[in-house]
Amino acid sequence: MERDRSDARSKRLEVFESYRELFASAPIRLMSRTASTMQSLGYDDLATAIGDLDWRTVPADDPEDPNLRQDWGSLLSTSFEHMGGWLCQLSPHPMGYNLDSLGYATVVRGWSEMWSHQLGLRFENVARATPQIFVFHGGNQALQAAFLGVSEARRDRVGTAEAATVLVPIPTFPCPLDQMALQGMKVHLLAPQDRGMDPDAADVAGVPEGTEIDGVYLMPVNNPTGRTLEPARLKAFVGAVLDRWPHAAIILDSVYVRLHPRDRELVAWYEEDPRFADAVIFIDSLSKTHGVTGLRAGALLTRSARLAGGIIRYAQNIMAGPSNAMQAVMLSLIAPFVTGDRELAEQRIRLQLRIGRHLQRRRRLLLRRAFMRYPNLLDHDQPLLPDPTGFDWEGSMYADLRLSDTCAKVADEAGVSPTVGFYLETGIAGVPLEAFCSNPNLKRHGLIVNDDDAGLARFQEDAKRFVRLSFGMTPPPRE
Ligand SMILES: Cc1ncc(COP(=O)(O)O)c(C=O)c1O
Repeated sequence: MERDRSDARSKRLEVFESYRELFASAPIRLMSRTASTMQSLGYDDLATAIGDLDWRTVPADDPEDPNLRQDWGSLLSTSFEHMGGWLCQLSPHPMGYNLDSLGYATVVRGWSEMWSHQLGLRFENVARATPQIFVFHGGNQALQAAFLGVSEARRDRVGTAEAATVLVPIPTFPCPLDQMALQGMKVHLLAPQDRGMDPDAADVAGVPEGTEIDGVYLMPVNNPTGRTLEPARLKAFVGAVLDRWPHAAIILDSVYVRLHPRDRELVAWYEEDPRFADAVIFIDSLSKTHGVTGLRAGALLTRSARLAGGIIRYAQNIMAGPSNAMQAVMLSLIAPFVTGDRELAEQRIRLQLRIGRHLQRRRRLLLRRAFMRYPNLLDHDQPLLPDPTGFDWEGSMYADLRLSDTCAKVADEAGVSPTVGFYLETGIAGVPLEAFCSNPNLKRHGLIVNDDDAGLARFQEDAKRFVRLSFGMTPPPRE
């Protein structure tokens, strides 16, 4: 028994050593690729803990929703078969592939109707008016377009002397930080006052006088914390930003909203203040709601003409984004919204919510197990868990656990971070919360405008005590 434990630990150490760099700072997609590589090398347990994001790994044994696997699977398989039919039609005349768009206008209509039907917000592309919907290769590319829109709007406003600055409440999804670094944007990292680390309107006052803000990046449902930002609080935060910087763009990364039972309510405030139409850019994706991360299907929705200039130019330059093949799959996935089949559209919305609930249940199950098996490695105070006893709350499929003093000590003795120490002891692998609170590429280029802020440094240091676990399409660690 003792011997097995020590074998498992040394194998974990071997895995960790071979992926030290990635483990410390890799964005999530890289982590999942790492997981696939490791699986092929036979290292099952880290791979299973991180998950390979493949829909086939969704277990069949969800007692609350035993048909989910079947319903979800058949939606995906029919959509991918639909692509096969489309390709068969094209293959006799391959020059047809030179068309960059077979159904772009219809795909756009699908997103338009899906938002209108599920979320009650209407965005439309109308002839001779500024487009309000842009479809891209996933939410991440839509984000890249949004940042280009922010930069171009700044140039239009004040010229090219200084790069745009984005205000980012942390902890935050790391990919956008990397994109901002690539685009040479400046970033003000906004540490939260709240124990639950939700952004709050009062935090805005902490940005020093004289700081110019051109855009904000934040999420109604947070990755990494897995928490839902109360809509009134989100509205107040957006209002506080616009009171101070009326020209600022607000990028709301909403890829988890359509999985959430309070979907409409989370964004309904958008209609309540006329300033929001000109400021807000929504980002959406099918990656999470349909479990198709690899498909790359996302969209940007905005009513702002002022922010659309850079986005339009970018979308035109890349031939409007989605390939024919991806348009075919996407069309099939969102077809009921295009055809106006209300009953089927409702069924699809219910399926998204069931997927959301399923992820929530997986999180509950795995957290319960982790707390039962490793009580001494986890702190009794868990400020980031909205439900630290039942482990059951609505939000994205993540949880940030605070590790105990014992865990920190064990890690210290092994010369690794608390997150890695926790992994070595348990086989449960996550990402240190610190990786969601800064970005090495922004730092390297001196792009973090408040990098010398002692309060920010303290917050980032404290974040090392938390591990971010993902309960996406992640199967439980093998015993
Ligand atoms: C908040 C957030 N936005 C965007 C994405 C990326 O979405 P996509 O796969 O569509 O690029 C993710 C994926 O983890 C995410 O968590």
